[in-house]
Amino acid sequence: MDKKLAQEMIDLAIEQLKYSYTPYSGFKVGAALMTKSGKLYTGCNIENAAYTPTNCAERTAFFKAVSEGERAFRAICVVGGKDGILTEYAAPCGVCRQVMMEFCNPETFQIILATSREQYEIFTLKELLPLGFGPDNLA
Ligand code: THU
Repeated sequence: MDKKLAQEMIDLAIEQLKYSYTPYSGFKVGAALMTKSGKLYTGCNIENAAYTPTNCAERTAFFKAVSEGERAFRAICVVGGKDGILTEYAAPCGVCRQVMMEFCNPETFQIILATSREQYEIFTLKELLPLGFGPDNLA
């Protein structure tokens, strides 16, 4: 992933923070998911008064994409912070990592964590979910 593409995804993920619905935690998360064909899907976290129905930004992006027929993914960028202020990397929660494991090759799928378009790091899914359980385990 070159810097220009990473920055395009970071910009898009940051833009999603304005849609983040977080009346309970105030922790705003934005995501930009790229398919292998280069199409981009966005997501934000959506909280709920009953708490457990809350959907993370990453899963919003994945479910939007999968519901439109996408199954092959290259990378996701995730940004987040209290009140939408990006001071630290917002790493995907375990549930979101598991959803990535369902659709992505852990060796090649890239997770871009950023606090700005200049400050970011790229991890593989395998780095964030070692020994993950996925579809291959049931084959
Ligand atoms: N959140 C995400 O959107 N993605 C993550 O991977 C971590 C947590 C959201 C869920 C909830 O709205 C808020 O951050 C605090 O947990």
